[in-house]
Amino acid sequence: MKKYFLWFTGVIIGFGCGPRTENTGGSSPDLSEYYTRGKEVAAVAQQTFFQEVSEALAEGGTEYALQFMHPVDNPKIDSLDNLYQCTIGRTSNKIRNVANKPSGPEELALVEAYVAGKITGDTVIIRDQHPVFYQPILLSMPACLQCHGQPSVDITEETLDALRNLYPDDQATGYKLGDVRGLWKVTFRNGVE
Ligand code: HEC
Repeated sequence: MKKYFLWFTGVIIGFGCGPRTENTGGSSPDLSEYYTRGKEVAAVAQQTFFQEVSEALAEGGTEYALQFMHPVDNPKIDSLDNLYQCTIGRTSNKIRNVANKPSGPEELALVEAYVAGKITGDTVIIRDQHPVFYQPILLSMPACLQCHGQPSVDITEETLDALRNLYPDDQATGYKLGDVRGLWKVTFRNGVE
């Protein structure tokens, strides 16, 4: 029961107050440590990922770069998992890789709230006794549009073909610069009662 209580508390605070840096309500455990650690992990993951995207695009162009877009299987990101004792992933309401689909209706609702601008900043919730940190991923570089922008305008026909082959059910196009594309999700291994 407790985890549901925490989850709803998190959502209500998130919806109500926008950015927040800690959750100290009632009998909830102090989650501020996970905001701090989550921010660190997400910053390194983001930097690593942006660097890989830029390097791959510069080295071989858009279709070549497609193969480097799985941060979950990326050795540099995997080493962060060990360093910070967590699992780093990404999720979205409009997914490209089905492996990234939200874990359930609450996670989908959280992404949708970010996309709609009802929540900004970071969120930590407890799920199955584990702290989970979320941070929005913005389409912050024009290069993102080569694979997530308007088909035929930002995304070339060649790239669209390659995307259709790899991800027949791709939903992750039609974005503009600055849109929330999804969330970093950092699941810590520590248990929290
Ligand atoms: C070369 C094409 C390409 C570029 C450029 C690109 N992406 Fe992606 N993006 C992909 C592919 C392919 C996937 C599916 C990755 C996987 O299999 O996990 C993906 C997945 C994602 C996901 C995970 C959710 C999902 O839909 O599966 C996010 C979030 C994301 N991209 C954000 C970005 C951002 C932000 C940028 C710019 C920094 C960017 N992408 C640039 C191709 C690209």
